[in-house]
Amino acid sequence: MNWVPAKPPSPPVSSPSLSAELDPDAATGCLATSPPPTAPRYLLSPAQRAALQDALRHSDSMRTTPKPAERVGHTLAALNCYACHSRDGWGGPGASRSDFFQTLSDYDLGDEGRLPPHLSGVGHKLRPEWLGEVLTNAGAVRPYMGVRMPQFGTVNVGPLTAGLRDADARPGSLDPAPPGDVKAGAELVGVGGYACIQCHRFGPHPSLGISVMDLTRMTQRLHWDWFRRYLENPGLLRAGTRMPAFWPEGQASVTHILEGDTARQIASIWAYLSLAAEAPPPPGLLENLPQATDRPTVDYE
Ligand code: HEC
Ligand code: HEC
Repeated sequence: MNWVPAKPPSPPVSSPSLSAELDPDAATGCLATSPPPTAPRYLLSPAQRAALQDALRHSDSMRTTPKPAERVGHTLAALNCYACHSRDGWGGPGASRSDFFQTLSDYDLGDEGRLPPHLSGVGHKLRPEWLGEVLTNAGAVRPYMGVRMPQFGTVNVGPLTAGLRDADARPGSLDPAPPGDVKAGAELVGVGGYACIQCHRFGPHPSLGISVMDLTRMTQRLHWDWFRRYLENPGLLRAGTRMPAFWPEGQASVTHILEGDTARQIASIWAYLSLAAEAPPPPGLLENLPQATDRPTVDYE
């Protein structure tokens, strides 16, 4: 909705325009430690006052058209996405609130199971269709996380999909995946390969262990370039992740499949996972799944 009143209500007191040169250190304005009776009392903390003064000192930069990354930053601040997410070193649940974020899993997933993912480079990570799902249709892939992502409405967050894409663009970030060998991909994901299903769910099947996000949804959510970079070095894109580096320094640790060729292995895993819901379970999954009664109950509903 773009509702603009025909005539703005007149303010009860006259005040200088924000676009005028305001003195950030004025002893009589809204930023004064004890504002005069004619000025509103915002009960600003010293940090808030310092931030506003700093902004006024640099008001020139507010008059220029913001770059995509700045526009994204303004939206994340205005909607307080930073209460839950960090991005480029800003925000995230600080020490005082961190304990409220709980996991619903019976397994020890560490912070990954309870703290919302960081948003650094997320416009390069997620496909725009999935970004739209997360922002406007409650799209979620981490049922083990106790906190839920609030929905803010398309009118407020719709522009973020394009904004994040522009802010986070990298050379090659939209490249299509090279062709891969689907059968070899299944072997690599299975227990005779890298055993990704030790940790990751696979469609309707739980994993053999901790059960984190579903592998059959990865290629619909992620850009190939991010997926490739993540597998090559998970810690680089997600510091502290429990996901192991299977190709340290680019060297494949499984050498009996595709002759240990890193690039072909990763492209083949992608090709297999691209079958999505149609992907047959990888070798060793169904045979090794413990009986339901031997497993901790994981009921997120
Ligand atoms: C109350 C906490 C909370 C707030 C506030 C919040 N989010 Fe989230 N967000 C989450 C959680 C939890 C997830 C993980 C959802 C899942 O995958 O199950 C998430 C996931 C995401 C993802 C997907 C990231 C990925 O790598 O899969 C994006 C993008 C995102 N949020 C953007 C935003 C934006 C933009 C805002 C502000 C408009 C916002 N979030 C506000 C909790 C929050
Ligand atoms: C030891 C456990 C473990 C193994 C084995 C494992 N992963 Fe992961 N993986 C994780 C965890 C934990 C995460 C982060 C989950 C989260 O963000 O909620 C993750 C995240 C990912 C992501 C990033 C998804 C995102 O949207 O952030 C991809 C892609 C991925 N794994 C693929 C694989 C593939 C392919 C394999 C096998 C080659 C594999 N994983 C093996 C634990 C594992």
